[in-house]
Amino acid sequence: MKIVLYSDIHAQLAPLDAVQEAVAKENADREIVIGDLVMLGPEPVEVVERFMGRKDVDVLAGNLDWWVSKRKDETDPPKNEHHVWLYEMVKKTRERLSTEQVDYLDGLMWSMTITPEKGHDFFIFHATPDDIEDAIPLRFTDEEVKEKIKGTDAEIMAFGHVHGPYVREVDGQTLVCTAAVGMNWDGDYRPAYSVVEYEGDGKWNVETKRVAYDCEAQAKKNENGWMPHGERIAKMVRTGEFWNPAHMPH
Ligand SMILES: [Fe+2]
Repeated sequence: MKIVLYSDIHAQLAPLDAVQEAVAKENADREIVIGDLVMLGPEPVEVVERFMGRKDVDVLAGNLDWWVSKRKDETDPPKNEHHVWLYEMVKKTRERLSTEQVDYLDGLMWSMTITPEKGHDFFIFHATPDDIEDAIPLRFTDEEVKEKIKGTDAEIMAFGHVHGPYVREVDGQTLVCTAAVGMNWDGDYRPAYSVVEYEGDGKWNVETKRVAYDCEAQAKKNENGWMPHGERIAKMVRTGEFWNPAHMPH
């Protein structure tokens, strides 16, 4: 069984087009999107519309989809300046989406398991098994990773959220970070996706792939669009680095 996964599109249509064009050529059995369709980008309507029309794709929720649909900007006071900026974007993103689109985000699943053969589970979630807002960054030690995935006995798991793809083995379990499509923070501007293949007898093959596209045109859309501080996002789209090195989120 061949499964393709990608995540963290963040309302950026051109890199999504590039990834979906590459994914279509993979001829996979399953296509799975691991959340964060919206926020941090100028095209939430177009991105949500794309997935509402694709019944053959499994789509999970991300933390920022959840912020938009649960009206986090109205229910939870901002903790810092970064939150003030994000909450403004949550409100403006929701205002652009139709009620049907907000309901679609609200109804997304938080996790799923694929079992190609009895006893061989592949567990998929946005951030950590238990928390849509937590994270498993690459800098974590094996002990820190084990703490985050405690109680998860799947042979392999995939997630997004940290915006820098990696594959890692910890105590016989494989972790696949797929993110991101919209913008990365590992120094490589190219969108990423993962290909996971179950070859039988507990053998899984994993590959991370990256796709080039015209990031300059997309960066300009962010700079000249409706978003507060679009220039911060444009910088991330162009460079593949977080806009504020003094405040790396993961
Ligand atoms: Fe996320």
